[in-house]
Amino acid sequence: MIVANWKLHGDRASVRAWVHAVEQAQWNLPERVTAVFCPPAPYLAVAEAARAPNTRLVLGAQACSDQWEGACTGEISARQIRDLGACYVLIGHSERRRRGETDAMRAGQLAAASRAGLTPIFCIGETADERKTGKTDAVLTAQMQVLHEYHAELVVAYEPVWAIGSGLTPAAEEIAAAHRTIRGLRQKSGRDSAFSVLYGGSVNPTNIHEILALAEVDGALIGSASLAPESFVAMLSAAAACGR
Ligand code: 13P
Repeated sequence: MIVANWKLHGDRASVRAWVHAVEQAQWNLPERVTAVFCPPAPYLAVAEAARAPNTRLVLGAQACSDQWEGACTGEISARQIRDLGACYVLIGHSERRRRGETDAMRAGQLAAASRAGLTPIFCIGETADERKTGKTDAVLTAQMQVLHEYHAELVVAYEPVWAIGSGLTPAAEEIAAAHRTIRGLRQKSGRDSAFSVLYGGSVNPTNIHEILALAEVDGALIGSASLAPESFVAMLSAAAACGR
């Protein structure tokens, strides 16, 4: 699974141009590769309308409200996101954790996503200090607690905070080890619904080959390198070429 997270980038023209450029280049994508893109919420409808009828591009959103509906000015609900054609929603991105979202809010967002029929891409990861002081596993364990009550299909994205937008990535063995921890935690929770683990943080068309080659890694969540269509297409090709 290759997921583009555009964050706060794009406008109507660039959304349309990106969709058309990627669709023209990706018709031979093997069935086992899922290509997801998450534009800013105001452009979900533009993105949906720009997709070709036989597109391989799946739509996702970057966040959803923890409330189903009601007096929540400025929020965007999971149901509305689904109604606009999205199948996935990012939950718990570190850029939202930093702005004050709590575990209680993430629990509500997970419940709303599940009720709406969206698959969450739940983002977790340690800071540089937490890694330096040997707390990575403890942090991942604490961040995954809220998933205990979550039974449906789930994607977890391991995104070390220090790797996001920095050009730095963990060593391959460190990525593999974190993914093993995440898989172990999910197994321990006794849930047997579909589960995959992505890596995110400074992924680009050059380093993606080594990352996808890791047996523990099911795909990548990509920020800045997903904005240029040719770069996203190169990463889809890397996934297509990956033997697993
Ligand atoms: P970058 O790929 O720009 O480091 O961002 C990663 C990310 O936060 C994706 O959600």
